[in-house]
Amino acid sequence: MKKKITLIGAGQIGGTLAHLIALKGLADVVLFDVAAGLAKGKALDIAQSSPVNGFNVNLSGTDNYQDTKNSDVIIITAGVPRKPGMTRDDLLGINLKIIKQVAEGIKKTSPNAFVICITNPLDVIVMALQKYSGLPKNKVVGMAGILDSSRFIYFLSQELKVPVNKIKSFVLGGHGDTMVAMLGSTEVEGKKITELVKEGKLTKERLAQIVDRTKKGGAEIVKYLEKGSAFYAPAASGVEMAESYLKDLKKQLPCAVHLNGEYNTKNIYAGVPVIIGSRGVEKIIELNLTPDEETNFKKSVESVKDLFDAAKKIDPELK
Ligand code: APR
Repeated sequence: MKKKITLIGAGQIGGTLAHLIALKGLADVVLFDVAAGLAKGKALDIAQSSPVNGFNVNLSGTDNYQDTKNSDVIIITAGVPRKPGMTRDDLLGINLKIIKQVAEGIKKTSPNAFVICITNPLDVIVMALQKYSGLPKNKVVGMAGILDSSRFIYFLSQELKVPVNKIKSFVLGGHGDTMVAMLGSTEVEGKKITELVKEGKLTKERLAQIVDRTKKGGAEIVKYLEKGSAFYAPAASGVEMAESYLKDLKKQLPCAVHLNGEYNTKNIYAGVPVIIGSRGVEKIIELNLTPDEETNFKKSVESVKDLFDAAKKIDPELK
């Protein structure tokens, strides 16, 4: 039987997700949006490309949760995106309310789904989603690390003139200005990036600029677009998580997951490498962090905790 993916939010990321999923023939797609016309229109538009592109999946649009029932995967982008000058954290109040509605909708209709959250501010929204929905923690994950790592790898590849597939790296921690590029685990053509710096192939200053550009990677795009935020790379990252789950690929991917003692961190969501397979988050991989990375990771987790405290003030139900 064909798998079913529901996309909650049929905006820029939702529409791109639907298109990528269809092109890959990964699953049938239900686009859900409070703006039903947007969901229906995008579903129909993509479906009409099936004769040209040769895919065979069903696409539909709705504003009724009944149509999403028994989804295998749910990807959530419902919410408002950033405007120029706004941080992801500025979105908290508005998107918290939206995520509460979404949690109510999906817990009744798809209690067994693997749920991927993309709505910002990511770590806090995915944690709120898990609490509101009561779905198992290993089945509720946030998409951020794949995107941040992908941005970092792309910038490095441009700088070093090395193909992206020859670079390995992780960007971990919270999905905000405190995210941590794991330089100790970054390799270019099998060589540690720290070695390249020692050999003078990349200056420390230039590397620091690339790390900084990665942290501000989303804001750079918000500024260019003027309306809305990034959607191609976020959607591609979400699809990679969904695919690893549906096909039991057991890929090691940096995702925002609930930490219960790993990385000396408890009771909070943050980005770390995990194995995603048919049981959801099957394993949390503990990298050996350098002292600097450990300090920065801790700082990043603290900022997620502070923002979650702010969320609890907005909605005491989150305690
Ligand atoms: N239920 C379902 N959909 C909703 C709800 C809701 N309660 N509230 C809003 N939406 C829909 C909007 O109607 C809109 O179509 O969510 C969609 C969001 O789409 P865009 O505004 O295009 O935003 P997008 O760029 O897709 O980003 C969505 O992901 O990366 C994050 O920061 C980004 O939080 C933002 C989210």
